[in-house]
Amino acid sequence: MINGIKLAPSILSADFSRLREQVEECERAGADYIHIDVMDGRFVPAISIGLPVVEAIRRITGLVLDVHLMVVEPEKQAAPFIDAGGDMINVHVEAATDLHRVIREVHRREKRAGVCLNPGTPVGTVEEVLPDVEQVMVMAVNPGASGQRFIESALPKVARLRRLIDEGGFRAEIEVDGGVSMKTAPRCAAAGANVLVAASAIFNEHAAPEQNIVRLRESLSRIERSA
Ligand code: DX5
Ligand code: ZN
Repeated sequence: MINGIKLAPSILSADFSRLREQVEECERAGADYIHIDVMDGRFVPAISIGLPVVEAIRRITGLVLDVHLMVVEPEKQAAPFIDAGGDMINVHVEAATDLHRVIREVHRREKRAGVCLNPGTPVGTVEEVLPDVEQVMVMAVNPGASGQRFIESALPKVARLRRLIDEGGFRAEIEVDGGVSMKTAPRCAAAGANVLVAASAIFNEHAAPEQNIVRLRESLSRIERSA
């Protein structure tokens, strides 16, 4: 954690043939969460990671597993992903027919609940559950792949959420997912985000994850909140 900002490396861009080492490298570099992108080929076109991979990661790290469910009918998936070892279960508002019920289910199992907003989804869709959740995820790319360009409208959205959360005295953290880099990370933090997900900025051919995490942290060391 730097300046109150948590880093959540997304293993979507990791080398899956060396997943254990890659997770350990993140852990050594002081990552706060491991972000796991679950895609079902329906909510988004791609199919990515499922339960056995979450179970395997659970066995190798004590870090918070931040599970991002990009799936239809998340009501059916929250419990299996908790059983597999997920700590924070993030559900898309666009996919949930009963957001409140799935949040309650996560809490009943004593885990943390997050709600996610696609770039085109307004903040108002989560306003009623803001007092109940541990995290709100603002997507700064359309879900489905890593390595996409940061969508600027995520920043005023983060700032609006920050105001709502602070004015309400709620505990929810604000996570930005997609397009986070050394350039955009400080801007997300300045707008009021305090958890940053990064896949391609951490797992790439230019440097090892550890070095990339150090650089991301450096970029965050001089932020002043503008929101
Ligand atoms: C996108 C995923 C993101 C993705 C981020 O659907 O939810 O977590 O891995 O990738 P980058 O950081 O490369 O934009
Ligand atoms: Zn994600």
